[in-house]
Amino acid sequence: MDAKSAPEMIVVDDAPALAETAAGRLIGRVSGKDRAAVALTGGSSPQGLYRLLAEEPWRSKVQWDRVHWFIGDDRFVPKSDPLSNMGTARRMFLDRVGAPRQNIHPIPTDAADPESAARLYEDDLKAFYGADRLDPARPMFDLVLMGLGGDGHTASLFPSSPALNETQRWVIGIDKAGMEPFVPRVTLTFPALASTREMLFLVDGADKRAILSRVLSGEDLPAHHAYADGDLVWLVDRAAAPER
Ligand code: 6PG
Repeated sequence: MDAKSAPEMIVVDDAPALAETAAGRLIGRVSGKDRAAVALTGGSSPQGLYRLLAEEPWRSKVQWDRVHWFIGDDRFVPKSDPLSNMGTARRMFLDRVGAPRQNIHPIPTDAADPESAARLYEDDLKAFYGADRLDPARPMFDLVLMGLGGDGHTASLFPSSPALNETQRWVIGIDKAGMEPFVPRVTLTFPALASTREMLFLVDGADKRAILSRVLSGEDLPAHHAYADGDLVWLVDRAAAPER
């Protein structure tokens, strides 16, 4: 890994245990703060967590008026489209718990094109952060959730994309996705995703085992290049965990 500190791997029994463990870590990261920020992710892996956050006992543990919800990447589709990552998070928990509207920060996919949406989202992040440059001593996020694609991508950072090498921009438009669904994307870059007290990868299911082994063994795949100013944690279920 390019992580500043060595990544930690937590193996749990199954997908429900993964959701419970992730919920506990999320609560731990956002509790007791005047203002907290979480970057959500798309795909199926975080959905168990999203479901739990809308239910007791987890729902009452979140101070909803104090937590701001961003998204690490989204598909460039209308917010009502089933493919929308923030749309999914809204339907699964944010709308159900009545999270304040001003605390939900979707990528503006009604912009003219992915690049314009990326610029607008970068402005939103900079206004929230209160500076134009990221200071590793003062991370933007408390928690960044990440998934792992079958080709080793994470967020919308696909293999061989020039976006992997971006060091200045916080958000960029991706015209061609490397994997289904083949719609344009908007994604935070590695430096922006790294500005977090914890980056938490959620990986479950036997179909992820081979790609996870490749990433963890250091192959030149996007997820291997993810890093965090704070802790980098791989939370995986037994079915996805590489053989020891
Ligand atoms: C997206 C995601 C993407 C996802 C991985 C894993 O917009 O598609 O943010 O990076 O996290 O593809 O997806 P699954 O959890 O569905 O395997």
